[in-house]
Amino acid sequence: MIRKREHFGSRFAVIAAMAGSAVGLGNIWRFPFILGEYGGAAFILVYIAACVVLALPIFYAESIIGRAARTDTFGAMSKLAPGTPWRWAGLLTVVSPLLILCYYSVVGGWSVEYLFKSLSFSFTDIPAEEVPHFFGRFISSPWQPVFTHTAFMAAVAFIVLGGVNKGIEKFSKLAMPALFVLILVIVGYSLTLPGAMKGVEYLVKPDFSRLTADAYAAALGQAFFSLSLGVGTILTYSSYVKKEENLLVSGVGTAVSDLLFAIIAAFAVIPAVFASGLHPGAGPGLVFETLPYIFNKMGEGVPVLTTLVSSIFFVAILAAALTSAISMLEVGVAFLTDERGMKRRTATLLLAFLCWVVGVLCSLSFGSLSEVKFLGLSIFDFLDHLCSDWLLPLGGLIFTTFVGWKMSKASVREEFTNGGTVNTRLFGVIYFLMRYVAPVGILVVFATNLLL
Ligand code: TRP
Repeated sequence: MIRKREHFGSRFAVIAAMAGSAVGLGNIWRFPFILGEYGGAAFILVYIAACVVLALPIFYAESIIGRAARTDTFGAMSKLAPGTPWRWAGLLTVVSPLLILCYYSVVGGWSVEYLFKSLSFSFTDIPAEEVPHFFGRFISSPWQPVFTHTAFMAAVAFIVLGGVNKGIEKFSKLAMPALFVLILVIVGYSLTLPGAMKGVEYLVKPDFSRLTADAYAAALGQAFFSLSLGVGTILTYSSYVKKEENLLVSGVGTAVSDLLFAIIAAFAVIPAVFASGLHPGAGPGLVFETLPYIFNKMGEGVPVLTTLVSSIFFVAILAAALTSAISMLEVGVAFLTDERGMKRRTATLLLAFLCWVVGVLCSLSFGSLSEVKFLGLSIFDFLDHLCSDWLLPLGGLIFTTFVGWKMSKASVREEFTNGGTVNTRLFGVIYFLMRYVAPVGILVVFATNLLL
């Protein structure tokens, strides 16, 4: 069957769509707390290096496969390497986003709760110092977080059931710039809090003694998570990119916007962490503990201001989280409907239910199941590290090996240079990164992680 494939209309559209998938809870929720756990400024440097040397080549590998094959991950592998086991690698890319969705939805649920708390003036009636304590009580309670996780997952399933409608797309196009502007305002405010400069120092003065061996795996994992790499999201998006488009430029554009968003979020959160006397290594709750604190301080005496700013903020976060979560479920649904012939409705409900069950366990791991540990980690942390530090890089390894060792150099060059018209000088460097540096780098990080 020959189907006319849609294309992104312009370079801006390509970058906006890819950055839209990349920017999410990974930047605002995950980056600040991972950075706080692994040592501030020194971690940022390792992170940037991981992005340039390991993540970008994988971004290009996915782009090249996607645009060359013009189809989804599973199909692309079968088309470019027919009759080989490569297509099974595509299967991994179906499983990992579903596993991410399990706990992503729990965090999405936290945003739902915080939106309701904002709207009901819960952050304004009490002294700012009390605000961070909300979080610990909330996540360790048995019902509330499970309830909000259920609400979030139901919303994701509902949207996927109906197909991604125009509403949510339009809505996130409004919400994302709003989130960006708001976060800049928050940075401005955060920097003026007494004690904030200690946080700035933490972010700009590298202290390499704080970097532990697993910081490298964490940096790599964060780069993958934040850029949506290793699961075929970028591959699939690239299949909609026009042949004339410059892949080098769209990759750099996406990576730079994603990095900017993450660093700005860190400057919003970390100075406030120091100002409020919290510890930067406090873990997944960091953002939820500090931002409401800032909102409370900002609106001191003017509760309406606090309510307004924090509500807009959590609506925007929720929008960013929803658009990412939908894409995670959609990958599995597309697989079950296209490859297994399942009805869209059955596939959506089945997968959402399975992810919901695992998500409930993740949610309870902050309270009644906190004693259950895998390799010393709670269920939530275990799943997060399993996906980010192992499954996504493994996906990346597969994609770069495919481009570097399975596809012919001529066809890779043809795709990346648009038939020899652009980026011809840089091709050698990028090819070297894809063929040797990225796979070896990922293997080295895997090995260090296993041995230390
Ligand atoms: N990158 C998104 C974020 O930062 C999350 C995300 C969306 C994702 N799609 C993905 C992560 C695919 C890994 C794989 O929140």
